[in-house]
Amino acid sequence: MNMGKMSLILLVFICNRIEALNFNDGNLLPHYYKHSCPHAEKIVRRNVEIAVLKDPRMAASLLRLHFHDCFVMGCDASVLLDNSVAFLSEKQAVPNLNSLRGFEVIDRIKAILEEACPKIVSCADLLAIAARDAVTLRGGPSWKVYLGRKDSLKASLIGANQFLPAPNSSLETLISNFAVQGLDIGDLVALSGSHTIGKSRCTSFKERIYSRSIDYEGHHYKRNTVFHRILRTICPKSGRRDDAVVPLDLTTSARFDNRYYHNLIQGKGLLTSDNVLMSQDVEGKIVKQVWAYASDEQLFFRSFVESMLKMGNINVLTGGEGEIRHNCRVVNTW
Ligand code: HEM
Ligand SMILES: *[C@@H]1O[C@H](CO)[C@@H](O)[C@H](O)[C@H]1NC(C)=O
Repeated sequence: MNMGKMSLILLVFICNRIEALNFNDGNLLPHYYKHSCPHAEKIVRRNVEIAVLKDPRMAASLLRLHFHDCFVMGCDASVLLDNSVAFLSEKQAVPNLNSLRGFEVIDRIKAILEEACPKIVSCADLLAIAARDAVTLRGGPSWKVYLGRKDSLKASLIGANQFLPAPNSSLETLISNFAVQGLDIGDLVALSGSHTIGKSRCTSFKERIYSRSIDYEGHHYKRNTVFHRILRTICPKSGRRDDAVVPLDLTTSARFDNRYYHNLIQGKGLLTSDNVLMSQDVEGKIVKQVWAYASDEQLFFRSFVESMLKMGNINVLTGGEGEIRHNCRVVNTW
């Protein structure tokens, strides 16, 4: 082989590496289980389908599980660990308690995976695949999930309370919550579109519908509308129905579509954290993005996928780091 050819091959090799590095640290790969567990993704898909048929809200719950996993020590399935002598479970954190759902579904799928290929598919990857399938099943986009995450050896209750954004956050706080994870304002706006499916308890937004604070009375939030009356009826001020749930997207709660952004424009985002995207956007960039997503669903889908890939990449454990749990609720003992 002559030198020219050699250096060309070398150059192509290096460029490929750089590309891989830019995209996902070169660690995660699509088709990661192609040889070690060829039916892994099919197994997850089938069982997410079954779970969602039985309980349509489960699609939203599985998507949220992946998010709450990734924002605490990275996408390492730390969110799935129960209390142990060594650490406290993230499930007790304020944003998770009486709120996160889907643990039993993940257990069931993991058990089936363990039967097909013992200790090959990580719980963290399972969460990432299930989140994708959930979105697709509700009419949202599909994408190739990058795989090869390992599972953590611990959980962080403190981290869960610190890093998961609160529903009454200001825009500034949301932006910094995302920045800590390496996600930008564009990611915040696109990923908030997840609130096109699923439900919220009254307790997560009640403050907003009964308070007179300026943020809530900004020009995007109109009082005494039908929307406002519905919320007050479902969630009485007394607090006796604080655990009642309301769809985050009252118009098309079963579909993963771009209606969330229409809602924002009409001041009908459910959470304060939804509405501040527009009401507190001084530069007008977010407002522009919201309008763009509202008028072009495919644009929203493309951005959403891009941001999901970014989120799925947060601080992943790979190679010899972590482990592949046998049971997603406990670290391995052997
Ligand atoms: C921007 C900051 C965010 C805040 C403050 C926030 C907050 C919340 C809250 C308070 C709920 C209702 C929980 C309850 O009352 O039990 C909720 C539900 C949900 N969130 Fe978010 N969220 C945010 C971003 C995200 C992101 C990035 C995703 C996904 C990538 C997501 C996906 C969901 C889904 C799917 C539900 C419905 C879950 C279900 O029905 O079980 N959220 N969120
Ligand atoms: C959000 O709600 C919590 C609990 O109700 C409260 O302690 C906190 O001060 C609120 N934060 C903001 C920014 O309003």
